[in-house]
Amino acid sequence: MAINNTSLCNWHQMASEHETPVIPLLTPYKMGNFNLSHRMVLAPLTRMRSYDNVAQPHAVLYYSQRTSPGGLLISEATGVSDSAQGLIHTPGIWTKEQVEAWKPIVNAVHAKGGVFFCQIWHVGRVSSSVFQPNGQAPISSTDKPLKPQMGMEFTPPRRLRTDEIPQIINDFRIAARNAIEAGFDGVEIHGAHGYLLEQFMKDKVNDRSDEYGGSIENRCRFALEVVEAVVKEIGAQRVGIRLSPFTEHSDSGDSDPKALGLYMANALNKYNILYCHMVEPRMKNAIEIVECPHHSLVPMRKAFKGTFIAAGGYDRKDGINAVAENRTDLVAYGRLFLANPDLPKRFGLDAPLNKYNRENFYTHDPVIGYTDYPFLE
Ligand SMILES: Cc1cc2nc3c(=O)[nH]c(=O)nc-3n(C[C@H](O)[C@H](O)[C@H](O)COP(=O)(O)O)c2cc1C
Repeated sequence: MAINNTSLCNWHQMASEHETPVIPLLTPYKMGNFNLSHRMVLAPLTRMRSYDNVAQPHAVLYYSQRTSPGGLLISEATGVSDSAQGLIHTPGIWTKEQVEAWKPIVNAVHAKGGVFFCQIWHVGRVSSSVFQPNGQAPISSTDKPLKPQMGMEFTPPRRLRTDEIPQIINDFRIAARNAIEAGFDGVEIHGAHGYLLEQFMKDKVNDRSDEYGGSIENRCRFALEVVEAVVKEIGAQRVGIRLSPFTEHSDSGDSDPKALGLYMANALNKYNILYCHMVEPRMKNAIEIVECPHHSLVPMRKAFKGTFIAAGGYDRKDGINAVAENRTDLVAYGRLFLANPDLPKRFGLDAPLNKYNRENFYTHDPVIGYTDYPFLE
């Protein structure tokens, strides 16, 4: 996609002429068959309030609070199978009960005119045997253990045999079909933050010697086979993927993250998927920001032919500039949206924001820190 600065110039010009400026972040965007009314996306946010891996009725209010007509929402990470979980009370989408539980939540988002994608997830080795069927070891690309972090301990993983990989790909395919059955408009394949897909993609984790290890092409094979299977099942224009080549969440570093990001952006074009959602290099992990040179997702944005979503550490001004300078089509907001259910409205008015309280990001209360953040009026 061509980068041009025309819209940014117009924006500054109009602002300086004291006319009501058009806010680039709040302009409409056509994402495939979806007519979005603005470019602010609810980032996927794990909230750990889905008791026993079943989405709960309180999520109806939570997601509908964050819905605006023509706004895009991405669900919290949602497990694809009984081996996909690594945390307590995260939702799944592999059983009939789980699919049914999502339906009223999706309906509520649609009733307010939102577009809702389900983030489908397998944690791989970021797990412990207590979350695994029959107390088995978590599965991964490797048997290298993960060091304890953020107060969590992990069971050393078991390296998947080559002949077991098709089964895991099939789990993603069925989860995608289930998401459509639940009413979601599409799925976002979770290929970020050190979880199973990244455990294959990144060379500091993947130490395989079969066709899923070694060269960049081999390391990306698993993720691309997941994409291919999901595309075949639900159609390319309902499929997005999230990638974080630069972050080192859960010990998932790569020796050449830019090459990895570019390889994936180009390879994804072959499948004609709807969007590529990438996490900014300034994110050290899922939530910590570090200093780094700007614009570094631009090569991937230019390489990828579909809709590009950027995420990680954006505020109002940053988001406006990124869209105005055509560095991205859409911007996903995590923590600001978590704490401000009416974030697009607040950005439109340049109104003050509620502060987020990280103490209850991951607590299990159905209201506190979840649906009790106030609206403007
Ligand atoms: C409470 C919390 C839960 C998160 N859960 C997920 C998740 O389920 N899936 C995911 O891809 N990223 C997850 N992230 C990362 C966010 O989607 C986002 O990339 C990150 O918060 C940085 O963006 P921000 O600066 O706008 O918050 C989570 C972040 C937070 C703070």
